[in-house]
Amino acid sequence: MRKRLHSTLFLSMILMFILFLGACGSDDAGGGGTTVDEPDTTDEATTDNSDEAEATTSEKLVIGFSQVGAESEWRTANTKSMQDAITDAGHELKFSDGQQKQENQIKAIRSFIAQKVDAIVFSPVVETGFETVLQEAKDAGIPVFLSDRSVDIEDDSLWVTFLGSDFVEEGRKAGNWLVEELGDQEDVKIVELQGTVGSAPAIDRKEGFEEVLSEHSNFEIIKSQTGDFTRAKGKEVMEAFLRSDGDNIDVLYAHNDDMAIGAIQAIEEYGLKPAEDIVIIGVDAVKGAFEAMAAGKMNVTVECNPLFGPQMVGLIEDYLAGEEIPKRVAVEESMYTMDQAAELLPTRQY
Ligand code: AHR
Repeated sequence: MRKRLHSTLFLSMILMFILFLGACGSDDAGGGGTTVDEPDTTDEATTDNSDEAEATTSEKLVIGFSQVGAESEWRTANTKSMQDAITDAGHELKFSDGQQKQENQIKAIRSFIAQKVDAIVFSPVVETGFETVLQEAKDAGIPVFLSDRSVDIEDDSLWVTFLGSDFVEEGRKAGNWLVEELGDQEDVKIVELQGTVGSAPAIDRKEGFEEVLSEHSNFEIIKSQTGDFTRAKGKEVMEAFLRSDGDNIDVLYAHNDDMAIGAIQAIEEYGLKPAEDIVIIGVDAVKGAFEAMAAGKMNVTVECNPLFGPQMVGLIEDYLAGEEIPKRVAVEESMYTMDQAAELLPTRQY
């Protein structure tokens, strides 16, 4: 009897040991990371990291984030979303504000490489001129995740994925709204406030808008100039538009809401009524635009959602755990008009 008891005890101990080993194995397989919302991918290509995975999602990572700057309400919300997501997930953040200057961003990435960070999140101010520094990151074995804006570089092995909005589609949405509203009017004169010269959203939002208008001969862009995505510049350039073309302007298409809000001030100071005398179209859907729409001073804003910090952290963790990552992950977006503004304003998160 005693002997049987001993062998039962011995067998149970072996069983428990086997179960324990099994549990350790499943942890190593990389479970428990932040869940990424089912990504809406526009590109089927993926980056496979299964052979190179060194870290797992349970590790504390050091993440360098090279941000464009602090030029708009959108940017402030995006910075906060990314910072909160990285630190809330228990990782260490090294943050650099590029102040809208390419040379600052190149310096920041070099400094992240020197500090041997685990991953770099990079929001490039302009599309070109980053090949060398991205090659340096690749040579150092540090994966780069493009955030918000992409680069115009042939060798796409220089980054893991691009998570951000479809800016061409945003431009199309603005154009389609305008065609719906004023499609039956003759000789509609538009002024355009472009974003930062050479930046992806400025290039793409112009392209999408013009693509739609090219099929409608009653629309004409009579002036187009950069306002660098800021309120101050948006106001300054709109003042110049008004000085030269005065009462001849029917529509303002601004590549972001901040420039539209600056322009609204210029229009009022000039003695015209924004949204009545001049139709105002913005992009971003920031709170400031909802306030302007609720006050009857702006007609429409196309959404560009900046709150994708958690999605980015999920992608980084998954990649470092050896998972396949889509080369392009898009952020889902909508658009909002004046008549929805008052009701939606209290619910806006940025
Ligand atoms: O890259 C996104 C754009 O950059 C936003 O639309 C604009 O407001 C920002 O500055």
